[in-house]
Amino acid sequence: MRLFICDCRGSMKLPKIDLGTDVKIEYHSNLCTDRPQIAPDEKVVIAGCSPNLLEGIFPDVNAEFVNILEHVSLIGHPPEKAAQLISAAVAKMNVTIPVEAKVFDIKEKSVLVIGGGVAGIEVATQLSRCGVQVTLVEKSPFLGGTVAKLDRLYPEGTPHSHTLMPLVNGLYSQKNAVQLCNTEVTSVTGRVGNYRIGLKTKPRGVQECINCGKCVDVCPVEVSDDGKTRKAIYYIPTFPDKYAIDFETCTKCGECVKVCPGKIVLDEKTKETEVGAGAVVVATGLHWYDVSKVEEYGYGRLEGVMKTLEFERAVASGALHPKKVAIVYCAGSRDSKHLPYCSKICCLLGLKEAKLVTDRFPDTEVYVIAMDMRSYGTFEYLYNTLRSKGVSFIKGKPSEISRRNGKLTVRTEDLYTNELLEIEVDNVVLSCGFTADTETFGKLKIKIDTDFPVLFENAGLGTAELPRGIFTAGAATFPSGVAETLIDARKASFSVLNLLQQDKIEKRLPQARVDEDQCSICRMCIGTCPYGAISIADDKIKVNEELCMGCGICSVTCPSYASQLETWNEKGLSKQIRSLAQKGDILALLCKWSAYNATERAAYDRLTYPKNVKIIRVPCSGAVDPSHIMLALTKEVKGVLIGGCYPHACHYARGNFRARAREQILRLNLDLLGMDTSKIRLEWIGKDEGRKFTEIVREMSK
Ligand code: FES
Repeated sequence: MRLFICDCRGSMKLPKIDLGTDVKIEYHSNLCTDRPQIAPDEKVVIAGCSPNLLEGIFPDVNAEFVNILEHVSLIGHPPEKAAQLISAAVAKMNVTIPVEAKVFDIKEKSVLVIGGGVAGIEVATQLSRCGVQVTLVEKSPFLGGTVAKLDRLYPEGTPHSHTLMPLVNGLYSQKNAVQLCNTEVTSVTGRVGNYRIGLKTKPRGVQECINCGKCVDVCPVEVSDDGKTRKAIYYIPTFPDKYAIDFETCTKCGECVKVCPGKIVLDEKTKETEVGAGAVVVATGLHWYDVSKVEEYGYGRLEGVMKTLEFERAVASGALHPKKVAIVYCAGSRDSKHLPYCSKICCLLGLKEAKLVTDRFPDTEVYVIAMDMRSYGTFEYLYNTLRSKGVSFIKGKPSEISRRNGKLTVRTEDLYTNELLEIEVDNVVLSCGFTADTETFGKLKIKIDTDFPVLFENAGLGTAELPRGIFTAGAATFPSGVAETLIDARKASFSVLNLLQQDKIEKRLPQARVDEDQCSICRMCIGTCPYGAISIADDKIKVNEELCMGCGICSVTCPSYASQLETWNEKGLSKQIRSLAQKGDILALLCKWSAYNATERAAYDRLTYPKNVKIIRVPCSGAVDPSHIMLALTKEVKGVLIGGCYPHACHYARGNFRARAREQILRLNLDLLGMDTSKIRLEWIGKDEGRKFTEIVREMSK
């Protein structure tokens, strides 16, 4: 094995070290620029500065990094400590499982875009303009998504067509884009660069159409569609330029067939097809929260209580002219019983409805009832305009909406005046929030822990660490207005292009490996993996290398040590601890995303701590095996510190909670054995909390 030791341009006193003839030591003064040749499969130890830096300089090597700058030199510890850290790293590296290169061939240079709203249309247009073959699928019969249903867009209240039609036309003129309406994704198999996607296209019914509209005149079925009434055969002026039959409500009476000068087929069959794609873009838009769950507001039970979209469409179509309206904000949002988060755009939608109705009917009295108004950025002027137009803003959260004497009554407090109000109105508009499209993400095998936001890290989507070839655009990630959606769609397009321009992606990330001979198929690892990366196939445990993020949590769960994380395997860590831990030491096993960085912060701030504090970098506090803590205790250390990310901040979703649970079980067991439990400490330490780290280890050293 080769060992590289760098003295950072002469700034460090290097230790005298002799590790026998099996270890060839090479001294350097500036590894940042004088990079030695290291073969991809060679195991090496590199001692110098921070592993965070060295990992960037040597991204594709099988190396154990030793931080002698921040853990020895800068804090005034003796060079002998550096020698101990280095020989422990060598001991570990001798038995560690090397990281295998994972190669992902980008065979398919095409893209599937799911969702034909503003985001999907923009992504498809941008990519097809760059020569990428795009298949865009939209589950409804027309493109346009939510925007096509709206009357106007905030803040100015311009008709949606000003924005939507140029986008639709821009896509329509592209030769590389295929648009499949009435189509849903049924299955997704494969991996980045080579997905196979099953599609189901429902019949449209109308095959040849001259848009004469005679079919609508004779259709006897009326359907309520988000505040508007339409027929079972209908048209939205976007794309495709022909009518469609809503077969969920159509009675197949055949009246439309009789008058149609084109061709209508009522018994058309569903088509199943399959497409290939190198990447997938989820652009499925806004999903309204089911506000009927907020029972006290009576949606679905009380006539006249509507959602913003329904109100907008009803007013715009002339079907509704209310004299008095209450717009209730945060209907179910920022509420632990419903949606705990703020959906960002609902305040603006509520303001838009107030503007819509007062523009059209200046005599309508409008009450906006909100705990807070989040009209961020320049949207503030929309709020101010409405105030000057006489819209009444009440600070409060209605406790109940009921119908009395034929009128809807909103019961609310007004925190500005400290009064309890009962406001009688014709209509109540509920400005409710949005949820994530768990169905589509589920088909893509992406677990979403909390509804929103769909963060790249916690969804495991194409992070810098792991390529999935799955991207999101627009409101699929988090609710956004049209302008933000377009910007986001362009960013997603760029990311897709970046991926597809490569013929293969090679990644050397530590991932879990399962030794089939040792595995008893107890399946404990399956449930413990935060990413759903482990499954069982042909009676064997399989790790999906596109999903495994390398947290190491499964390895600790495995009772037979069959599941092991590359570079952080059980044997390697045992050797490292055996070599490093000495009687009276404090062994600190620190998460590389948080607590470990705090030790570097401490060094830069020259915060010192006793030299018997020995630090080992681990991928996550959830990867700390209680058996390693026990091993350290048998070496008579004074204490073991496990440092992890703060609750809900774990890079691997739940690793720190696992660490907490294991620590508590270990304490119970130690207590039963009559051992001292005070030697173990689990602490959440943020990356900049150098002071906190030093205070903890100083206290433990006393
Ligand atoms: Fe820091 Fe899990 S990544 S504790």
